[in-house]
Amino acid sequence: AVETLQGQALLQRVVEILQDSFPHYNWTGIYMVRGDHLVLEAWRGPQATEHVIIPIGQGVCGAAAASGQTEVVDDVSQDPRYLMCFPGTRSEIVVPIKKGHQVLGEIDIDSDELAAFTEEDRRFLESVAAMIAERVG
Ligand code: SME
Repeated sequence: AVETLQGQALLQRVVEILQDSFPHYNWTGIYMVRGDHLVLEAWRGPQATEHVIIPIGQGVCGAAAASGQTEVVDDVSQDPRYLMCFPGTRSEIVVPIKKGHQVLGEIDIDSDELAAFTEEDRRFLESVAAMIAERVG
């Protein structure tokens, strides 16, 4: 039988590959939906976040989970929804992991650069999220 990575181990590998592949990704996490909260299941970066459980609807993360739409925040200091995790963060992208319209979770990446996330990042991360959705939930 072919052994494949599943569940948390798969999510952990994904965050490690993303975080270690792109210098403008300064913290990478995957939150999964549990009831009406997001729970941090895997992360890679220089430091842990206090926001390991986020109510859906709160923060940029909670907004993306509620809408099912990717959120790109070019300047977190200008977004009133933003929940601060790291003092160095300047921009953020949150990409929902969806099966059809159902949000299973999301990829959340913080950058220390202003407006770090391009259309290319968005398209790439949306394809990564689609691959994750095929293998979890
Ligand atoms: N900044 C996020 C919270 C998660 S930390 O970035 C890891 C937000 O506004 O929802």
